[in-house]
Amino acid sequence: MRYGHFDDEQREYVIERPDTPLPWINYLGCEEHFGIISNTGGGYSFNRDARLRRLTRYRYNSAPLDTGGRCLYLRDDALEPGPAPLMWSPSWQPMRRELDHYECRHGMGYTLIRSRLKGIEANIRYFVPLGDSLEIWEVTIANRRSRAADLSLFAAVEFCLWDALDDATNFQRNLSVGEVEVADGVIYHKSEYRERRNHFAYFACSAEVAGFDTQREAFLGPYRGWESPAGVQAGLLTNSIAHGWQPIGAQHTRLQLKPDEAKTVVFLLGYHENPTDDKFETAGSQILNKRSVTPIIARYRQPQEVEAAFLALRHYWDELLGKLSVTTPDPHTNRMVNIWNVYQVMTTFNLSRSASYFESGVGRGMGFRDSNQDLLGFVHLAPERARQRILDLAATQLPGGGAYHQYQPLTKLGNNDIGSGFNDDPLWLVLAAAAHLKETGDWSLLEDRVAYDNQPGTEEPLYAHLQRSMRYTLDRLGPHGLPLIGRADWNDCLNLNCFSETPGQSFQTTTNKDGKVAESVFIAGLFVLAAQEMAGIARHQGEVDAFSEAANKMEEAIWVAGWDGEWFRRAYDDFGNLVGSKECQEGQIFIEPQGVCIMAGLGVEDGLAQQALDAVADRLATAHGIVLHQPAYSRYYLHLGEISSYPPGYKENAGIFCHTNPWIMIAETRIGRGDRAYDYYLRINPSAREGLSEVHRCEPYVYAQMIAGRDAPAHGEAKNSWLTGTAAWNYVAITQWILGIRPTFEGLEVTPVMPSTWDGFEAERYYRGVRYLVQVERTGPGNEVQLEVDGHPIEGTVVTLPPAGAQEVRVIAKVGPG
Ligand code: GLC
Ligand code: GLC
Repeated sequence: MRYGHFDDEQREYVIERPDTPLPWINYLGCEEHFGIISNTGGGYSFNRDARLRRLTRYRYNSAPLDTGGRCLYLRDDALEPGPAPLMWSPSWQPMRRELDHYECRHGMGYTLIRSRLKGIEANIRYFVPLGDSLEIWEVTIANRRSRAADLSLFAAVEFCLWDALDDATNFQRNLSVGEVEVADGVIYHKSEYRERRNHFAYFACSAEVAGFDTQREAFLGPYRGWESPAGVQAGLLTNSIAHGWQPIGAQHTRLQLKPDEAKTVVFLLGYHENPTDDKFETAGSQILNKRSVTPIIARYRQPQEVEAAFLALRHYWDELLGKLSVTTPDPHTNRMVNIWNVYQVMTTFNLSRSASYFESGVGRGMGFRDSNQDLLGFVHLAPERARQRILDLAATQLPGGGAYHQYQPLTKLGNNDIGSGFNDDPLWLVLAAAAHLKETGDWSLLEDRVAYDNQPGTEEPLYAHLQRSMRYTLDRLGPHGLPLIGRADWNDCLNLNCFSETPGQSFQTTTNKDGKVAESVFIAGLFVLAAQEMAGIARHQGEVDAFSEAANKMEEAIWVAGWDGEWFRRAYDDFGNLVGSKECQEGQIFIEPQGVCIMAGLGVEDGLAQQALDAVADRLATAHGIVLHQPAYSRYYLHLGEISSYPPGYKENAGIFCHTNPWIMIAETRIGRGDRAYDYYLRINPSAREGLSEVHRCEPYVYAQMIAGRDAPAHGEAKNSWLTGTAAWNYVAITQWILGIRPTFEGLEVTPVMPSTWDGFEAERYYRGVRYLVQVERTGPGNEVQLEVDGHPIEGTVVTLPPAGAQEVRVIAKVGPG
């Protein structure tokens, strides 16, 4: 069952009814200012940091789902103001009055909601303009009745007192600190501005204001909710000024519309900072200095400026999405590669795992391994931003090569609460840096000087950071010569050194074993993969490759201690016992080592990779994707940690952890099985699952972190949409391995391993400033590639870089029998 459809032309997903199984959200903002918006106008906004600079409140665990947020109300004033005047929310929530027509279009950085009730049409456009810190709600109301309409339009937001966690917990203080100012139709929220903050929020209306409220209970009425504000019912607000309690911004404007007349009102929800020494109107006063914010508000109150800003946003996305576009025989592939997957990659780059409808925005900072992996899909979009991110990440690396698991986006400092010791973390930096070099060919990245742990004076070239990352692994080898796992490896919940018996303890930070025994086959595979990147870098630098010998040894260790006979094992636990082996009762085979070891090339030549992948197909693959391991852990195992804390089929306990599925897709392409790879690709492709929306339940336009595995009662149900490494990895799997258009240190490689049913496809790729037009033609079965570049056949599969000044390169790839 579907709840909407894709409009690929407009690059929008069109939701046709408001009561989707879960709120289906979108992100406003692509730089520093963000809003999360649901298909009924729910959600919240923040500037840079979803916890520390939260503009509006969000209620967690709320029932009904998704209330509050961006509240709009229409009231038919022509009717006598009886006990029940005709009132509704044009975005359905919060009033939830049934509409005659409803449609929500989520697009690239904007959302449109259109609705109609009793001849009154509303057309709302929400977006964050590039370069400014505010959210625009442009509301156009049209009268399609045959008589004049007399309407009131109300818009309301509930301010958050900045630190979202404190706001939700520290009432003894917070209920006394709320402050606002109202001037010229603008409500300013300035709690804590009197002391150390130099920022404030505002909620402005472009039309003449008939009244306002800034105290929540004055607007709602005591014991009433956002679905039935007393002020809307009365058709009159009280011009309340909040002192403490719950500051809000509620604006009221009246609209008189002749038949077929339409009017546009713009609401602005903004964030502004003043210089710390110029915070007030005059020295000694407590009145906000509005000198620098007033021009911004004045500008966006004008509809033509709003239109221009919207067009600029569209243009920005045209450019980004134009970096790679493909035309394949499959519409799901086309729309994910050309539109939604890229869009999600940008979102994960911006927000890591901080703020979604599943990530609360108060918890996690930027993850070290997460952000590095997100870069793998992002680097071609905005290489300069990617470079800065690599340097920020490297600056949180510790002198010993380890890394803080997370850092805070506002300060860019490593997060001490969670600390370091996730032993896979540092290796991901190597993969991210290599991806940047392959994309840009700008080797100066390696020379950028970066400190350790952000300590001035410790700067070294980035290249040295990468070398320390590699040595970190080699300095921590266990009894079988495999890397020690530390707190966890990629699988945050495989906590082999945390024997926790106390409820509520952290599985990751409570470490009560010395960590000298438990080893990870996953990290071993990742090391081999990273060593290949280091070898490529060394080759280019004309240096002796310092890590390939260690990588060879690591491969040997994997074959000796990490191969189970039919697949790669997962780990050794603190007792030296196997995890992910036939010998185990539960958890006999895990997906991660099959993916990473084969991506690193292990077993590709001798058929063992194929054996491991056949085991994955037999034991782990389901119609909804590939589960993390089997059999699921049926109970809690003290020595395995959080992984066995989840009920079977969920999350790391044998859920379909989508992040890992593209590793298997890539592995399948490594052994030439394009049909398999593509089949796995489609199983979790959100667009291909659109028709199953009643089962999948999350948005059909973005990947979710997890789909419930076969051991779960709700097999096939997705959770944790949007902020997941799945976005970047699927993008890499489909574009670089299945479609096979892959940046290398030497140039752009074209080696598709596509489905046998495809005759070919076309792609346009901007690479190092040159436009590559790639035409792939299947000549028969098989994956052998013959390239023709600008009409001349070439040897090999890497298109050598064109001479300086070249604008365009035409590549024809004939794929078939060798
Ligand atoms: C989450 C984390 C990621 C981890 C994965 C598996 O997605 O963000 O860092 O690798 O879970 O545990
Ligand atoms: C990962 C896992 C999650 C776990 C968390 C611990 O993100 O997906 O289940 O709770 O790590 O930090």
